Amino acid sequence: MKNPTNFYTLSNGVEIPSIGFGTWQAHNGEVAISSVVSAIEAGYRHIDTAQLYRNEESVGIAVKKSGVDRKELFITSKLENNEHGYEKTLAAFEGTMKKLDMDYLDLFLIHWPNPIASRDQWQEDNAGTWKAFEELYRAKRIRAIGISNFHPHHIEELLKTATIVPMVNQIRLCPGETQDEIVDYCRSKNMLLEAYSPLGVGKIFEVPEMQELSKKYNRSIAQICIRWSLQRGYLPLPKSVTPERIKENLDVFDFNLEDADVQLISNLKGCVGYSANPDTITF
Ligand SMILES: NC(=O)c1ccc[n+]([C@@H]2O[C@H](COP(=O)([O-])OP(=O)(O)OC[C@H]3O[C@@H](n4cnc5c(N)ncnc54)[C@H](OP(=O)(O)O)[C@@H]3O)[C@@H](O)[C@H]2O)c1
Repeated sequence: MKNPTNFYTLSNGVEIPSIGFGTWQAHNGEVAISSVVSAIEAGYRHIDTAQLYRNEESVGIAVKKSGVDRKELFITSKLENNEHGYEKTLAAFEGTMKKLDMDYLDLFLIHWPNPIASRDQWQEDNAGTWKAFEELYRAKRIRAIGISNFHPHHIEELLKTATIVPMVNQIRLCPGETQDEIVDYCRSKNMLLEAYSPLGVGKIFEVPEMQELSKKYNRSIAQICIRWSLQRGYLPLPKSVTPERIKENLDVFDFNLEDADVQLISNLKGCVGYSANPDTITF
């Protein structure tokens, strides 16, 4: 069994495995269970789920099935969009813990800063949610707390009432989409950037420049993407339900991309589309 040796360290000192296993669209039940079991067997120690993915139960079952000690794993979930606000957040967190059947969570994120359900009062709702996150963190129910899809203006607003700065912002970071303004802002606040959709939700495989790089390095396009993500200092979260791909996506610690190729991939603007505007999403 292969273990990734690489970790990032969050601003509160907690270590987080540098590649996480994505589970969006891994359907609850057999598909999600078997993919998470395959991932843990392949050596992943970091699993990314969310209330919105409806597969937390499967993640919990897979963790037990894997036989790996809970303490060796890093489990992330995210607060559902219609559960913002202090009371709702506390209740939703208990729901997650029940589904996962775990007694603590490693990382909990606010999934979106300005969902439809909070559109008229997203500032107050995020402040209430963050108060709940801080309480759960101080009570040691969660080892680290963070945000997802937040832009600087959402973070500035959150920091008006926060007493703990988020440790992570999980955003879409993939070839051609480096969101430099958000990344620079988060880094100035010591936040780690997690990269979601690192393979462009599967669209990257058609991009000719990536096919060329795959030939040049004799590595798969997925491996080039994940390597690019790591070399940019992001924490990639590749998703797959296919055992060979799951293994392949972790096998990226024995080669390096040249700086010019890292730049080339960063410059493939729009090759797999762009992220949604969090202030106009319709969910
Ligand atoms: N915070 C947020 O708002 C947010 C949003 C989106 C995603 N995320 C997180 O980020 C994770 C990853 O993003 P994503 O699910 O959007 O997509 P992704 O990881 O960019 O791409 C997944 C797609 O690539 C395919 N694939 C994976 N490895 C491959 C390989 N080695 N060769 C060929 N095809 C491969 C998968 O197919 P198969 O599965 O069929 O193998 C799937 O179709 C999510 O699962 C989720 O945990 C978070």
